[in-house]
Amino acid sequence: MQKYLSDKNETNLRLPGPVPVPFDILNEQTKPLINHRGNEFSYLLKNCTDKLKQIFATDNDLYITTSSGTGVMEASISNFLSEGDEIIVASVGWFGDRFTEIAQAYNVKVINLSFSHGSNINCIDLEECIKKNPKAKAVYVTHNETSTGVQNNLSDISKIVTKYSLLFVVDGISSVASVPCETDKLKIDVLISASQKGWVTPPGLAFISVSKKAWNYHKVSSLPKYYFDISQYKNYFKKGQPPFTPAIGVMYSLDKALDLLIEETMPKVYERHKKVAYKIRTKLIEIGFELFPDDENHASDTLTSVKIPKETSTKQIIEKLENKYNVIISAGQGNLSDKILRIGHLGLVSDAEIDWLIESLIKSMEKENE
Ligand SMILES: Cc1ncc(COP(=O)(O)O)c(C=O)c1O
Repeated sequence: MQKYLSDKNETNLRLPGPVPVPFDILNEQTKPLINHRGNEFSYLLKNCTDKLKQIFATDNDLYITTSSGTGVMEASISNFLSEGDEIIVASVGWFGDRFTEIAQAYNVKVINLSFSHGSNINCIDLEECIKKNPKAKAVYVTHNETSTGVQNNLSDISKIVTKYSLLFVVDGISSVASVPCETDKLKIDVLISASQKGWVTPPGLAFISVSKKAWNYHKVSSLPKYYFDISQYKNYFKKGQPPFTPAIGVMYSLDKALDLLIEETMPKVYERHKKVAYKIRTKLIEIGFELFPDDENHASDTLTSVKIPKETSTKQIIEKLENKYNVIISAGQGNLSDKILRIGHLGLVSDAEIDWLIESLIKSMEKENE
């Protein structure tokens, strides 16, 4: 994968997903379409599933859905719970809150353990919350909160969740394949991710891993489900097929991207992300920005969020970066929309792109302050 680091991109796409995808991976989508119920697709599906399991570091079942990440977030609720069940959602931002919104749409009772934006999940509070709510069946957490740039410590959280034998559900949409997230070692029952993030693949596919314990929850779950019913995925997978028409082109891209990640080796991919994140954070601090996470130790390795000075507007900075310098970054979400900038650095980021980003930011801020 590393060999595709490019200094020649015309746009510096620094969103926290979708990420820039090299032409060799993109072009896979132009292959002629094939029968998704035939042998060739069966081979592709099995191959991609095996490679995804390697990166998820799991022997659990794993399924590929044709959807964005929110589809598998919904699957992680509808497949394992029943109406009136209680769950704990430990949320540090916008995407954590999405679990609550989905669960409430299904009439699941949510115990909201919310932390202030910029903080990570406090494990003492989590344990207290579990003790106070003995009826809770599951804990839902976001590994990497893309709305704030905070990365939670999954190994600490795992110790607590497993101590109380609760179902452990993790949104790894913006973390898996970029930072270590070993499903089996961390005893994660359900882990989800989506193709447009560290997988260096176009949007359109999402992934969900399911442990034996999660299957036991599934057996007694009575929430309505159809498109995302994992039993359908399981039954069809036995025949080497997906239950519904898949995004065949994206699957070809994914297959190629997975080969490149595995060829580079995951420890090297993680190390590359760590180095890029450190470099971007350090440069942003050097040019006068303050990190949004309240402690650099839980700053994300896949995106960095920074506060902007009171007198400046995120909208104007973002527009200038795009119109004058071809650099695309994001504002905050919800009530953070005019308070922070979010810069994605998952997937491939070259040194030249980091310099281009920083120089453009300096110029955009100078003009902004004039
Ligand atoms: C942590 C996290 N969860 C959920 C989502 C939602 O995924 P999607 O937009 O693919 O539905 C995102 C997307 O940015 C995310 O970063």
